Amino acid sequence: MITSIRTRVAIVGAGPAGLILSHLLADAGIESIVIDQRSRDEIEHTIRAGILEQGTVDLLTAIDPNTRVHTIGDRHDGIELRFQGEGHRIDFPGLVGRSVWLYPQHEVLKDMLRLRLGAGQDLRFGVTASRVEDVESERPRVFATTADGEELTIEADFVVGADGSRSVVRPAITGDSRSGYFREYPFAWFGILTEAPPSAEELIYSNSRNGFALISQRSPEVQRMYFQCAPDADPNALTEEQIWETLQSRVPGTTLKEGPIFQRDVLRFRSFVAHELRHGRAALVGDAAHTVPPTGAKGMNLAIADVVLLARALRALLNESDERPIDGYAEQASRRIWKAQHFSWWMTSMLHTAPDASDFDHLRQAGELRSVVESEAGRTFLAEAYTGWPIG
Ligand code: PHB
Repeated sequence: MITSIRTRVAIVGAGPAGLILSHLLADAGIESIVIDQRSRDEIEHTIRAGILEQGTVDLLTAIDPNTRVHTIGDRHDGIELRFQGEGHRIDFPGLVGRSVWLYPQHEVLKDMLRLRLGAGQDLRFGVTASRVEDVESERPRVFATTADGEELTIEADFVVGADGSRSVVRPAITGDSRSGYFREYPFAWFGILTEAPPSAEELIYSNSRNGFALISQRSPEVQRMYFQCAPDADPNALTEEQIWETLQSRVPGTTLKEGPIFQRDVLRFRSFVAHELRHGRAALVGDAAHTVPPTGAKGMNLAIADVVLLARALRALLNESDERPIDGYAEQASRRIWKAQHFSWWMTSMLHTAPDASDFDHLRQAGELRSVVESEAGRTFLAEAYTGWPIG
């Protein structure tokens, strides 16, 4: 059996980008459907990154003044860069008058799902999109299958790919799912969640001779930490004792508070930007359009910045038949995307140890870090990018 659905905007992917887009469209009186192949439970419980830029928090607050960002989230007014055994704090409000919030992505998702479902959003879980057709016409279509095996055809005025790095919408826009600008890195992050009190009040980004480590937090009881590892590392190959030993050796000067490790994962590093972000009546946002290595904490924030631009463009297109903003979407979004790509690459290369690094490379890297922390201009550049450039 094939069911046909007619809507104005078909959004593939119920991550932060897709859900926030559906909210902004509803605000403009534009009906949409959101589909995702995952279950609600899976979406709400997948552990992802945790840092929200100031502009992201401002937007979430505008969407819901009672957002839990301000109650269970934690404002961070700085980070520490550590190298050659010394810590250097970057004071965000003092440098740029902005902050960031530690508020995990799955909490944003719980908030947005509750809000959208409460508002009557057509939001379907367990629906797998297989392809998108007719994007050059005014009636692009998404073909999908429900968890029960029912075939769905969604006909819309516009299709948005918010479906992550393995986007099925992307080929309809770029012609080929691999068509894009790529960079691989010779390392990855070994991430853990541990039941322990915080080892530091703020995030510590630590460069050491043995490799990078990041000390982050989740709550008073749960901490998130990462250390640089090989891209093909097996998350189950190390004992808890070896994990703590590795982490400890990479944050000289801090005694980490250890506890049981209840989750471990290896995060691959990749920089990617699709060659095209929009074609006809379809566009890409978030990880479907680009991926960044996690060092700059830009992933979710960049997705949300795309969505703000796209919502404005769709409002002009669908409510006023004004095509100019959608024609400018790719160019305008690209400017921020490439700034974020640069920042994420820069933080990554400045803080990690390349497997083939020479003594010259190690000392040059320390010189680079010192040029940042010992200069107000350097610290300001970092603070401006980390807390996020104004959206839109
Ligand atoms: C995290 O807490 O998961 C986190 C924080 C900062 C990053 C990346 C990940 O740069």
